[in-house]
Amino acid sequence: MKEKITRQDFFRKSAIITTGAGVAAVGTGFLFPKKARAEGLVETWPAPYDTLDVETVRINAHDDYCTEGKGCCYAAFNAMVKLLRTQLPATFPSFPNEIMVYGHGGVAGWGTICGAVNGAAALISLVCDKATSDQLVSELCGWYTQALIPSDISNDYAVAGDKYTATKSDEVLTQNESGSVLCHVSCTKWCEASGVAINDAKRKERCARLTGDVAAKAAELLNDHYGSGFTAEYVAPAGIASCMACHSAEGAHKNVASKSDCNQCHGDYEKAHSSVGQKSIESNNFRVEQNFPNPFTNRTTIHYQLERFDTVSIEIFSMDGKRVKTLMTNKPHGSGVYTIEWDGTSDTGGRAEAGVYIFRFRAGSKVQTVSMMKV
Ligand code: HEC
Ligand code: HEC
Repeated sequence: MKEKITRQDFFRKSAIITTGAGVAAVGTGFLFPKKARAEGLVETWPAPYDTLDVETVRINAHDDYCTEGKGCCYAAFNAMVKLLRTQLPATFPSFPNEIMVYGHGGVAGWGTICGAVNGAAALISLVCDKATSDQLVSELCGWYTQALIPSDISNDYAVAGDKYTATKSDEVLTQNESGSVLCHVSCTKWCEASGVAINDAKRKERCARLTGDVAAKAAELLNDHYGSGFTAEYVAPAGIASCMACHSAEGAHKNVASKSDCNQCHGDYEKAHSSVGQKSIESNNFRVEQNFPNPFTNRTTIHYQLERFDTVSIEIFSMDGKRVKTLMTNKPHGSGVYTIEWDGTSDTGGRAEAGVYIFRFRAGSKVQTVSMMKV
């Protein structure tokens, strides 16, 4: 049977062919054919890329930060997109670059991902397939955590006075390594290192130079990828792998997915786990569930669970506070799930009357009660 090709399939296939042709054209400096837009393929992804001049990107991103007032994320993205539109007038997609405005201050001031990294990463994702984008963006993030920023080049440009069209300060600014891609960590560690306040013009100039440096690094990575080939240089701190040996999806305690440096926030192994023991003092080390059945006539069962070793006492009280039955006193338990049954009898041997009873569970110094109804 002949395969039916939908219009969508057709466009998908032509996009793949277009991409193939682009790869074949590496080295000519022009990576995707001009006909894309002419054919109405402005939404083709990845969008075309053309070798960018790294120093022009650095200067433009810095200057856009200083002059446009739309933040670091926009400035990093805008500087590269504007150059690409100039170099690839017929093929580079058109959209308002202001889609990246949200990213300043680590997403509208929340101090999460550095906006410059965010904006540069968006551009990378626009011009690369997912696998390449993941590789280059990860390299950009890794580089960012270890680079001395502002770079010597950016500091030199500011002092030279004839490179930037606008600056908020023309002094050499303190350089530091943030260890993190978070805006909060990056900015605050810089403020600490430099003694400059967060709202000072010099801090803004630092972020302007940083924006230039990040965009320049992104351009360099893209140029390498589409040119001679990209090789990862970032080496993650060894501590991350040691933590992830247990906490990653492949470890025994599968609860973390992150490439960020664990030690920066949690400290070393000892420190990260020091509160584990302390937790039993601060919060319950156990969980007690509602009895079943409830209400009950003759007997009822309670499930409880311990996270760590502890001694357990379980008693049943009547509503007027009299102890009716002692089920166990200071009985040692390892961590695990347990079941206890009350057969409706009292310590004096007879059957307890119908009514509401309090089931009191105690592990160490912590107590939890569950009320139950006997009918
Ligand atoms: C040998 C396996 C192992 C390694 C290696 C390991 N962890 Fe853990 N970690 C655990 C287990 C198991 C728990 C859960 C303990 C509990 O809840 O009783 C835990 C709990 C934690 C907690 C929660 C502590 C709390 O207060 O409940 C943090 C934070 C943590 N790990 C961070 C780290 C960091 C950071 C590293 C690397 C420096 C690391 N872990 C390395 C096994 C490991
Ligand atoms: C930017 C800071 C930061 C970084 C980097 C970081 N964490 Fe966390 N992590 C946190 C915070 C904050 C919490 C929540 C703590 C809480 O609410 O008790 C947390 C929670 C955890 C918990 C659960 C804690 C608990 O109370 O049970 C584990 C386990 C953990 N992180 C492991 C890691 C590992 C492993 C890494 C490295 C891959 C890492 N973290 C990197 C900040 C960070």
